[in-house]
Amino acid sequence: MRISDSIASEFNEFSKDYTNDMIKCVPYYNTLISSFTKNLPPNFEPLTILDLGCGNGNVTAQLLSLFPKAQYTLVDASEEMLNICKVRFKDYHIHCVASYFQDFEFSKNAYDFIVAGFSLHHCNSDDKKELFNKIYTALKPNGIFSCSDLMIDKKSDEHTALLEKWKTFVLNNYPSKEKWEWLMEHYSEFDKPDSFPDQKNWLEHVGFKTFSTLINDTYWVHCQVIKSY
Ligand SMILES: C[S@@+](CC[C@H](N)C(=O)[O-])C[C@H]1O[C@@H](n2cnc3c(N)ncnc32)[C@H](O)[C@@H]1O
Repeated sequence: MRISDSIASEFNEFSKDYTNDMIKCVPYYNTLISSFTKNLPPNFEPLTILDLGCGNGNVTAQLLSLFPKAQYTLVDASEEMLNICKVRFKDYHIHCVASYFQDFEFSKNAYDFIVAGFSLHHCNSDDKKELFNKIYTALKPNGIFSCSDLMIDKKSDEHTALLEKWKTFVLNNYPSKEKWEWLMEHYSEFDKPDSFPDQKNWLEHVGFKTFSTLINDTYWVHCQVIKSY
């Protein structure tokens, strides 16, 4: 397996067996995906939802089970991923946008709920900070931003230990080393995770309040923040 030369083409290729690959390559994938519908405020009824880096739609699928009538905007750089979503969600109010986050026009006060599943680690620290600011502005008052991701600084001492545990997990599912080697090539080229404390600081800096955090094994994190005044 070879990696591609851009995020969009990498995920066009990845889309072929995406969910199976994610479950077998990403520890806690199912837990962290199902976290998007947990611990929400009791009367939270979003009418407008933005899924950033929707991929083949696994986060949106969770949300549709709770909020089938909401208007969804799905953004992804990969056209192939969006094509899967268009078929998968043809019976719902779904608007798909093929765009990099950096080029996407975030309307002000437009969304009740913004979600990002395993997509923001593709952005570097500065892009994340800018994105958090745009997400804050794009949310309505009391809107929620929720994300699941790998959150660790690649330069930290703990990173080597994380890779060892991760490798054991992947080799358990794919005993030949080919998948792990591809994953590490992908990780080195496309993945720029930041630690949870750093991201929490950046979120709070733009105005968010953290209200719920689930951390599995320290670095596989689900976090929810609210735009409250
Ligand atoms: C690992 S997948 C996650 C998909 C889905 N949210 C999930 O949780 O299974 C990351 C997705 O984000 C998209 N992506 C990554 N960086 C992006 C960027 N800067 N702009 C737009 N889409 C991006 C990729 O194309 C890919 O479909």
